[in-house]
Amino acid sequence: MVLFGGNNARKMNDCEIPTGLKELLRGYTVEVLRHRPPDLVEFAVGYFTQILQSRCKVKPAKSEEKAARKGVTFATNAHESEEVEKEPIENSVGKNNRRVSVCAEPYNPDEDDEDDDTEPRVVHPKTDEQRHRLQEACKDILLFKTLDQEQFSEVLDAMFEVQVNPQEHIIDQGDDGDNFYVIERGVYDIAVLKNGVSVCVGKYDNKGSFGELALMYNTPRAATIVATEEGALWGLDRATFHRLIVKNNAKKKRMYEAFVESVPLLNSLEASERMKIVDVLGARCFKDGERIIAQGDMADCFYMVESGQVRIMIQIKMKAGQQDEAEVEVARCSRGQYFGELALVTNKPRAASVYAVGETKCLVIDIQAFERLLGPCKEIMKRNISQYEDQLVALLGSSVDFKK
Ligand code: CMP
Repeated sequence: MVLFGGNNARKMNDCEIPTGLKELLRGYTVEVLRHRPPDLVEFAVGYFTQILQSRCKVKPAKSEEKAARKGVTFATNAHESEEVEKEPIENSVGKNNRRVSVCAEPYNPDEDDEDDDTEPRVVHPKTDEQRHRLQEACKDILLFKTLDQEQFSEVLDAMFEVQVNPQEHIIDQGDDGDNFYVIERGVYDIAVLKNGVSVCVGKYDNKGSFGELALMYNTPRAATIVATEEGALWGLDRATFHRLIVKNNAKKKRMYEAFVESVPLLNSLEASERMKIVDVLGARCFKDGERIIAQGDMADCFYMVESGQVRIMIQIKMKAGQQDEAEVEVARCSRGQYFGELALVTNKPRAASVYAVGETKCLVIDIQAFERLLGPCKEIMKRNISQYEDQLVALLGSSVDFKK
């Protein structure tokens, strides 16, 4: 086939562009822009050799099979139709020569370090506009909060866009875990089977993430997630989630295990439950005077002070019937103490504002993990609500009922 010369312009228009060519070249171009290699040809040899080598080890992505089954549309890309075959977990032969299911063996995050370094990275090329939307969706995801810059960037590279239709099941309880999802937009119901009956236990409203449990603990999906309207998600494949998030969680465990053990509120939990708390924690740092919580806002997180201090302030009317309001300090919390539980327990807006005093680091749990993991501590929290009420009576001379 001749591609150049005057007459061939028409021939080029006639000739069919081979499937995958555009995506292949786009992938190469994105890598060139990211790495700015001095020799484009040499870089091309390395890039395409790597694709060729990884092709010998790939199988169709489980997510893709499932997507086809569920009608989820993934962005099409040469890389996107492939998932690197790591350990063939589903079909692996167990120690007793029995086939074990995907859910039988918990991950040991301290194993496989060498494999991980040699494993080809999953990259789904994105336009600037897509990357911007992805970064926005991921900026408050707690599981990403302990990643360093390079790890976070790798996670973003590996994520792929998923368009969602109303009533679509993104996850079905009992299934094996394929992807972790971050919400860009849309409302998603969370349903859990209780005595054989599906009960709606909560919802995600245009933010948050789900699907981490099955990947973290190698267990079946613990809930069904259904889109109630058209929406958009970003998926992260199981292998990348394992390599970056689960491995990072091992580091997080070493950092925060002792802290979580020392928080009096969590004493009523089993040791294994306390470890699950460590898995879902995100770390957030605040500057002196920075507002952490605003009175009147809807609540989505629970906080524990790891270092520094916070001041809890309530807006009150200066005189009954007048407009003038002032913020009054009602309490302080320091290391090992918690705040932000009241609105989660009462399902009401934030009853106070919270500000950092000096540089302050808090460990944060989102509302879904709070509901799932801190149930046994709720009684203690409720008891403390009465103490808040007493405190305010002493301070303001009038009674307040937070539970109403
Ligand atoms: P996973 O089990 O992988 O898939 C279903 C997801 O639903 C689960 O991870 C959590 O991310 C999310 N989820 C939210 N609330 C709950 C809940 N109460 N119980 C179980 N899973 C929940």
